[in-house]
Amino acid sequence: MKHLISPLDLSPDELSDLLALAEDIYSSPEKYSHCCQGKKLATLFYEPSTRTRLSFEAAMLNLGGSVLGFSSADSSSAAKGESVADTIRVISFYADICAMRHPKEGAPLVASMHSSIPVINAGDGGHNHPTQTLTDLLTIKNLKGHLDGLTIGFCGDLKFGRTVHSLINAMVRYPNTRFILISPKELQIPAYLKEETLDALHIPYEETTNLEAALPKLDILYMTRVQKERFFNEEDYIRLKDTFILDKQKMQLAKDDMLVLHPLPRVNEISTDVDDDPRAVYFKQANFGVYVRMALILTLLGIKVEK
Ligand code: CP
Repeated sequence: MKHLISPLDLSPDELSDLLALAEDIYSSPEKYSHCCQGKKLATLFYEPSTRTRLSFEAAMLNLGGSVLGFSSADSSSAAKGESVADTIRVISFYADICAMRHPKEGAPLVASMHSSIPVINAGDGGHNHPTQTLTDLLTIKNLKGHLDGLTIGFCGDLKFGRTVHSLINAMVRYPNTRFILISPKELQIPAYLKEETLDALHIPYEETTNLEAALPKLDILYMTRVQKERFFNEEDYIRLKDTFILDKQKMQLAKDDMLVLHPLPRVNEISTDVDDDPRAVYFKQANFGVYVRMALILTLLGIKVEK
């Protein structure tokens, strides 16, 4: 049995197979519509979510399976003090696979150690969000045609943005990736990621506070919101939240084929006047999330379908 806790839990070959499967599901969804008949997905969400929880549920329903779960800690026995370890032992009797989001870093890993069903990390604190990374990779691969040789700009809250951490870890495995890290000084990527990943693997990157200067160099711009829920001090959040706002005027500085991604939810960091620009693909990206999660469910349940 395999879990997905970190984006690196899939080898490059497994990842490539999974993305190919997601693309096949995207082009022929009817072929897969009964694959999970009789199977159940549990969504255990201790933190708010729209896309991740509902796209997981849509994915399982599209595969002919069923879903059960909770959407907040308050509506589960976590509110009475039940541990993640006890919860997953019980859920293992009720479902065949589970997706867990938790505010504490490492909670899905703990769950996986006590589980007899595959556990998928659907976001743990400021740490990782591997299924968002799969979504991002599928979006880039489908729309750019390749994952190597790209200059990717991450902009916004690079300190707390778990989607950024996961995608950096995934992209360093592709040749000739370069990063431009655009953030206020207080929200730069964590030191461990610089030292243990970027520096250790000699990945070229620069850090800047200047979005306008970075824009012309980018193949992908990955915008992020400032993560209000991870700040200790509201004054700091208010001071930093609108540091970068991508608008129509700034988009004129970008390449004609640059893609704008955002894991969503958007707050204020992308002006709605960018939405009609063909380079703005964040809503397409949310749609790809369903197909990649369908592929992941099939892969972790070991269900094979003739392509
Ligand atoms: N991208 C993402 O994780 O969105 P949700 O918080 O709505 O699940």
